[in-house]
Amino acid sequence: MTLDHIIIEFDKGLRTVLAEAQSVRPFPDRDKTEHTLTPEEKRHAAALMRINHSGEVCAQALYNGQALTARNPATEAALREASQEETEHLAWCEKRIHELGSHKSLLNPLWYAGSFALGALAGALGDKWNLGFLAETENQVGKHIENHLQRLPANDEKSRAVLEQMKIDEARHANTALEHGGAPLPLPVKLAMQLTSKIMTHTTYRI
Ligand SMILES: [Fe+2]
Ligand SMILES: [Fe+2]
Repeated sequence: MTLDHIIIEFDKGLRTVLAEAQSVRPFPDRDKTEHTLTPEEKRHAAALMRINHSGEVCAQALYNGQALTARNPATEAALREASQEETEHLAWCEKRIHELGSHKSLLNPLWYAGSFALGALAGALGDKWNLGFLAETENQVGKHIENHLQRLPANDEKSRAVLEQMKIDEARHANTALEHGGAPLPLPVKLAMQLTSKIMTHTTYRI
């Protein structure tokens, strides 16, 4: 890795954390009605969407870290395509958080740095583990989204529409990673990943 690479990666990180993300696809909630929510419902929905947004910051960092070390050009292209959709997820969550009157997590720079390091490490272990790690991450994100769909206020149609589309995309990302040769991860690694995400979601709900 040259100094150029480091500067490019640092720039990508800053943009993920600080700049407003853009979406090529239309926003999934564009046709949904904004129903009236109580202040408590709004606060809760915003906190859930803040967690999802931070999850997407992590996804972005993982993909960037992995693309840096991926060896096979087809793998690299698949990672880049999925990463583009993660940027859209960032944009969707961010807009929704603002509509609900709240802010993104203040801890995003920390989540980005940690996930980038993990992604680079997984990438260094070779494509088989790199893609296995990715598939497992996407599976766990999918389960999270499922859980948040249950916990959102019943009439928050807009957040729900965003999460429904994200769920479809994450399942596709997991399949892509497996199709490109991702190996199933050992159970202790899966459990460590679950624990890390638990810590992340608990803090991000508030901060
Ligand atoms: Fe995503
Ligand atoms: Fe994804």
